[in-house]
Amino acid sequence: MALPAIELKNVSVGFDGEIVLQNVSLTIHEGENFVLVGPSGQGKSVLLKLMAGLIEPLTGEVLIRGQNLKSLSREEKQKVVCKMGMLFQKNALFDSLSNAENIAFPLREVTSLSPDEIESTVDKFLEAVGIGHAKNLYPDEISGGMQKRLGIARALALNPEIIFYDDPTAGLDPITSRKIIELIIDLQQKNSSTVVAITNDMNRAYQMADRIGMVIDKGLILTGSVEETKHHQDARVHQFVRGDLEGPLMVMS
Ligand SMILES: Nc1ncnc2c1ncn2[C@@H]1O[C@H](COP(=O)(O)OP(=O)(O)O)[C@@H](O)[C@H]1O
Ligand SMILES: [Mg+2]
Repeated sequence: MALPAIELKNVSVGFDGEIVLQNVSLTIHEGENFVLVGPSGQGKSVLLKLMAGLIEPLTGEVLIRGQNLKSLSREEKQKVVCKMGMLFQKNALFDSLSNAENIAFPLREVTSLSPDEIESTVDKFLEAVGIGHAKNLYPDEISGGMQKRLGIARALALNPEIIFYDDPTAGLDPITSRKIIELIIDLQQKNSSTVVAITNDMNRAYQMADRIGMVIDKGLILTGSVEETKHHQDARVHQFVRGDLEGPLMVMS
């Protein structure tokens, strides 16, 4: 059987003596679309960065296609990390570069493409996310939805096999949000990639997910498929799913 795309084995993460995640285990399969939901501040972004190799666990292991990030040399880890792309929560676009340059920059840094190849790659990905016309504008000259599209194009231009989307519809209106998720699903199917996405919006989670997990109380509750999540027994899941709560939950444990 093929190795899973991502495996977390009993990972714990903390900052300055504060534990954020404790003993989290998770297996994400190749080609799967896994969605993380849950109230703010519970560790969703931390969990995503952990899988992307951007932060290290205090204990436990992170395996990408069976390779333990901790036991790899710098060069080996770099190779694994290069196969992963990330849309950050706040897009992390370069404001002083044009939209086209935002995509070209990482291509120049990490690939050996010629200038012509870079230009055609930039055009292809701007077109793929529907903002080819905004090529020569700057990020602050385009709408929030277009900025997300640009962030997605930049992440995908490096042809990643695993893509992380941190809250790709945050701050967008419902119609734009739906379109961004349609775009993510469409691009995933075209590229047969593995996707891990965070959202606080259950409708978007249901639209996108093969499987859902909820990050809460320093742990991860694997809530299962969309149908299983809708009818999950755990009171915290039930409350989040029904109320779509953003803030701390009022649950007696
Ligand atoms: N680099 C960091 N240093 C210190 N604390 C952090 C860091 N990153 C995240 N945290 C803390 O970890 C907790 C979870 O954060 P985060 O994963 O961003 O939550 P969310 O579920 O909203 O994405 C928060 O209390 C946050 O303050
Ligand atoms: Mg977050």
